[in-house]
Amino acid sequence: MKALPSPKTASFWNLIQWILRPLPFLDACAERCGDCFAVSFGNLPKLIFLSDPQAIETIFTTHPSQFDSGRANWILRSTLGDSSILLLDGERHQRQRQLLLPPFHGERMKAYGQLICQITEEVISQWQEGQPFSVRPEMQEISLQTILQAVFGLREGDRFEQMKRHLGSLLDYTTSRIGFAAAFFPMLQRDFGAWSPGGQFIRLKEKIDHLLYAEIRDRREHLDPSRTDILSMLLAARDADGQPMTDQELRDELITLLTAGHETTATAITWALYWIHHLPEVRNKLLAELESLEMPPDPMTIARLPYLNAVCSETLRIYPVAFITEIRITKAPIQINGYEFGTEAYLVPCIYLAHHREEVYPEPKQFKPERFLERQFSPFEYFPFGGSHRRCIGAAFALFEMKLVLTTILSRYKLALVDHRPILPIRRGVTIAPQEIKLVPTLR
Ligand code: HEM
Repeated sequence: MKALPSPKTASFWNLIQWILRPLPFLDACAERCGDCFAVSFGNLPKLIFLSDPQAIETIFTTHPSQFDSGRANWILRSTLGDSSILLLDGERHQRQRQLLLPPFHGERMKAYGQLICQITEEVISQWQEGQPFSVRPEMQEISLQTILQAVFGLREGDRFEQMKRHLGSLLDYTTSRIGFAAAFFPMLQRDFGAWSPGGQFIRLKEKIDHLLYAEIRDRREHLDPSRTDILSMLLAARDADGQPMTDQELRDELITLLTAGHETTATAITWALYWIHHLPEVRNKLLAELESLEMPPDPMTIARLPYLNAVCSETLRIYPVAFITEIRITKAPIQINGYEFGTEAYLVPCIYLAHHREEVYPEPKQFKPERFLERQFSPFEYFPFGGSHRRCIGAAFALFEMKLVLTTILSRYKLALVDHRPILPIRRGVTIAPQEIKLVPTLR
């Protein structure tokens, strides 16, 4: 058996790099160590990064019972709670997936098409001609309203406004450097009063929990079988023993969907708007395709546009919003590409490194949507939403939303970047996002 290479740097230094500069750190490790390498991060279990398609295939096609992931997601526990799908393993995890998947697929998802376009129209109608705006907060407003509507069926009212405000603040905290670092340094989590980072987080979470529990209580009291939102479906769901979900289970699943479901999508749309306006030839091709649409376009027609699909795919390839999948902890020995791993090995399919393999993606640092028109990539070469039994449940929903939001914006405005310098990716919590991007609009 081969020995696993590791970077020679100190484990505490690795942790600092991982928090502050994860992508350059991964590039440097891959350059020095190759396809598969192990990294120590402070006192945490050693992580084994893999990016070769054959290794990814072995992981994604091995029986799910051979891996745990939920217990490796402890970093999310303080926000999402013990019963979140992201923290579960085994049968409980499978059961929650079965409950949560249907609303994000097929006919149910199509029903959100008009709503996404309408929310986008409302948000962008506030933009002033010639007035630069920061892209990310605007995209976050759209994706937050969309997910609140999908999850609760809520679009207005005091509770909706409060939920929107507090969720926005929660994300600002969890995606800040201090918020992310707090997960690794417990001292930063302690409540030293309302102005300390830990104190702010605890108070914010209390406010959100109060709103979520109030909504759950009201809905239980006034069950409405005609409602199609996700909370209504979860309230009606029963397990194998005929038991409904507890309030705490519901709370943890709701906060998971609300956070996982809007931060990631907002970042993806922001990146797409950057690339479209940074590269004139991409924008021209895309606009030519959009001009072929009949007005008002049908959301399902938009979803099938080939160049738009290629632009969204390339956006999620070059800087995948989630740059690693969930960790797979081995429960039985496994051989991968000549390496033998025992139990309790922490395997990490690395989306970013897999998406930057020169032999799969020539000139990997260049944004080229055409690669997705010229060939098909396997789910082990291209996996922005992960794979197997942990694959993102919101993948189809997120792509649908990306395409509809982009089309609605580009059909109404001509936009230009305020600053044409290349934008660098930075860590935002567990995701990779662009630095601030500003666009200036003029009406079409
Ligand atoms: C562009 C947007 C998004 C990206 C890039 C993304 C990416 C991912 C990735 C990489 C995973 C881990 C998969 C694995 O370990 O194999 C994941 C899991 C998950 N995502 Fe997403 N996601 C996005 C949007 C969404 C949306 C819109 C929702 C829901 C409304 C969502 C809900 C979830 C949930 C609940 C999981 C955990 C699945 C499990 O552990 O079984 N995500 N996502």
